[in-house]
Amino acid sequence: MTALVLGIETSCDETGIGIVRGHTLLADALASSVDQHARFGGVVPEVASRAHLEALVPTMQRALDEAKVTLADIDAIAVTSGPGLAGALLVGVAAAKGYALAAEKPIYGVNHLAAHVAVDTLEHGPLPEPAIAMLVSGGHSSLLLVDDLTAGVTPLGATIDDAAGEAFDKVARLLGLGFPGGPIIDRSAREGDPGSIAFPRGLTAPKDQAAHRFDFSFSGLKTAVARWVEARERAGEPVPVADVSASFQEAVVDVLTAKAIDACLTNGVGTLVIGGGVAANSRLRVLAEERAAKHGIAVRVPRPQLCTDNGAMVAALGSHLVAAGVAPSRLDLPADSAMNLTTVSVPG
Ligand code: KG4
Ligand code: ZN
Repeated sequence: MTALVLGIETSCDETGIGIVRGHTLLADALASSVDQHARFGGVVPEVASRAHLEALVPTMQRALDEAKVTLADIDAIAVTSGPGLAGALLVGVAAAKGYALAAEKPIYGVNHLAAHVAVDTLEHGPLPEPAIAMLVSGGHSSLLLVDDLTAGVTPLGATIDDAAGEAFDKVARLLGLGFPGGPIIDRSAREGDPGSIAFPRGLTAPKDQAAHRFDFSFSGLKTAVARWVEARERAGEPVPVADVSASFQEAVVDVLTAKAIDACLTNGVGTLVIGGGVAANSRLRVLAEERAAKHGIAVRVPRPQLCTDNGAMVAALGSHLVAAGVAPSRLDLPADSAMNLTTVSVPG
């Protein structure tokens, strides 16, 4: 019988517990502290840690109930070891160790970014390797070459300043739209004209090709939006929020998709998988499909609930590791806020 794997995610502001058998998702329980961070315009680490502590046990119970299993039925426990907020990670890692020790189950400390890639298998089955993965969230924007998801992934590029989701959140704040900004801008952009304002495309100039071909930069774009809005306000003119949203969003997704396709073509790879909160963006999904189709590249994007942080992604990666016969981690595995992408799971 295929192993039943439970995954625990606490790297940022979502307490997630998922249960997976093979590629089948049996439970995906989530508690979010996003509302507690809204008035600060970003995640406050101490508030997040406290919220994880309060949510963990009830979320665990909900996941077990949803899957109609008990802890004794679980074959392995996977937990996000990093990267993420140190205090938040610590809550999940400590809980996973407690459950693993009490129930005498093997434990896998896994990489959060690799889990964002693995979650796609729950929707689309085994991932063809090699694949290019683009992870775009509030904390990360990276392009990765995935040769073998059990062994490690090769970073091709990353943001040199703000993450893509961070740019959405900051622009939403300066437009007075609320937090988190991505979904709100996505909605607002549908009423606007993406070609109305020519915002800059970071790191796409010919001079950037050599050193930053697969890197991203969104801080110049954010500043350009702020200047444009200020100029309008100074002139006493109304700010066309939908047009600004649409033009900003177009600048982000134009660069993301162009670089992702370039990474596929340069590496001779026919599959692009997109994950992370920003992968929920409706325009990103359409443009990536459109551009990839021209080159015969298959695009895999999980449904929006699986793109944002959740426990299912951790369980999916754990399940993949168990199936591949990877050894579990040691029980003293760390919460590693700066965990490197070359480590998919903490060695035994
Ligand atoms: O993966 P995630 O839930 O958490 C992190 O690991 O950061 O990503 C959250 C980020 C936020 O910045 C949020 O604004 C962004 O994903 N986001 C979106 C959309 N939905 C969420 N960005 C653009 N369009 C969306 N529809
Ligand atoms: Zn994430």
